[in-house]
Amino acid sequence: MSKNILKICIGTPCHLMGAANLLESVEKFDCKLRQKIELKTSHCIDNCCDQAPVAEFNGKVYQNLNPEKLYKIIRENIK
Ligand code: FES
Repeated sequence: MSKNILKICIGTPCHLMGAANLLESVEKFDCKLRQKIELKTSHCIDNCCDQAPVAEFNGKVYQNLNPEKLYKIIRENIK
């Protein structure tokens, strides 16, 4: 099964804007969903720091995230 790559930025601006909440929320996904995701962290994604917190899912960058938005993006784009 090919994994979906989720990169969450933990650089300082993203950290200050709640990156830890995003990481924590992914760990709470139901098992089936969580198994399909390879979770990585990054120290900056495309210099989008002014739009923190930022994550990349399967190569696409998403900004101004919160756990609800991230969950929706993943549900809609997971392979
Ligand atoms: S530090 Fe997160 S996008 Fe730059």
